[in-house]
Amino acid sequence: MKDFIIKDISLANNGKKRIEWARRQMPVLQIIRERYEKEKPLKGVKIAACLHVTVETANLILTLRAGGAKIALTGSNPLSTQDDVAAALADDGINVYAFRGENEEEYYECLDEALKIDPDVTLDDGADTIARVHEKSLEGIKGGCEETTTGVIRLRALSAEGRLRFPVIAVNDAETKMMFDNRYGTGQSTLHGIMNATNFLFAGKTVVVVGYGWCGRGVALRAKGLGSSVVVVEVNPRKALEAVMDGYAVMPMKEAAKIGNLFITVTGDISAIRREHFEVMQDGAIIANSGHFNVEINIPDLEELAIETNEVKEDVVEYVMRDSRRLYLLAEGRLVNLACAFGHPPEVMDMSFANQALCVRHIVENHDKLRNEVYPVPKEIDEEVAKLKLASLGVEIEELTEEQKKYLSSWDFGT
Ligand code: ADE
Repeated sequence: MKDFIIKDISLANNGKKRIEWARRQMPVLQIIRERYEKEKPLKGVKIAACLHVTVETANLILTLRAGGAKIALTGSNPLSTQDDVAAALADDGINVYAFRGENEEEYYECLDEALKIDPDVTLDDGADTIARVHEKSLEGIKGGCEETTTGVIRLRALSAEGRLRFPVIAVNDAETKMMFDNRYGTGQSTLHGIMNATNFLFAGKTVVVVGYGWCGRGVALRAKGLGSSVVVVEVNPRKALEAVMDGYAVMPMKEAAKIGNLFITVTGDISAIRREHFEVMQDGAIIANSGHFNVEINIPDLEELAIETNEVKEDVVEYVMRDSRRLYLLAEGRLVNLACAFGHPPEVMDMSFANQALCVRHIVENHDKLRNEVYPVPKEIDEEVAKLKLASLGVEIEELTEEQKKYLSSWDFGT
């Protein structure tokens, strides 16, 4: 097992300063870290983690190490690794295998290197580790945690085929994760990435948000806040109705394609934007993805339609169509919030990664009672994270009186 595979160890100092800055915005994770330092609940536990290598992730990794774990970390996307963070962690003795700009072969080399730790627990953002472990039939894993919607979908599919070989906790689905990280995190970081890459003015533009889950809700809300007319494309009738009542125009993609200045995919599905949509887009349209994989925008279709492609600046490629319209694809269709910006802010990752840290402990302590299924985050963990976050914000909340508790558990008080 190599010590690390990173871009440049001389970036470590910068990475350490940024990790420390993020640590100060992650008070819940900090409390868990202090607790883990004393109690060592993860003593001797080997963890293979495939996560976006960011300052926030670094703080999770250091929390798990404080608990006694040994960790091998690999990046969960070829364009999301912050090289100074990888360097800082490597310099601090973590086995990290990740650099920005990996090709597919390098991506899997890094993942395979991390798996040499012979993990007890896996941590995933997108389920690539678990998929690999299943391909290679690795034994001895007690359980895993999954960070994102796309990963949970993949794991449920594996479980439905009866092939999941150990229990996994869907950290993504915790309320203190999904409602904050997916909505406010994706909302803000996606727009940040687009602005970084293009300096796009949202005011007065038509922004098409494809997908109205928690991520889509966040993106739409922030684009509206910056003065855009927002159009939502959604396949689920309940969510589409919600978008209507939230004040957005809702229409099929083939109509939205004709009027958008900027398109953002957050569907978790394949080919949400494809040939027939590129064919009718306006000259100058910008297309970005904030879903986990680079499949939401059908790039092969775009390449086939183009007579010329030009890299106009870092992370912006121009596709010139036969009729001379120019379409702009950001970050090769990979998650624009991590490829062109910092990803979600530490304040929201605080809750996501607090859930991760507590769920790893839950697996270590309970794996022999769990079946090979996808489990929700235990309610007590979700609630504890909410309470700790509120306390860190200095917010006190109301408590039920005994009379109110009694009322809520009775059936006989009526008209
Ligand atoms: N996913 C989205 N934003 C992230 C961040 N800042 N760190 C790790 N994973 C993320």
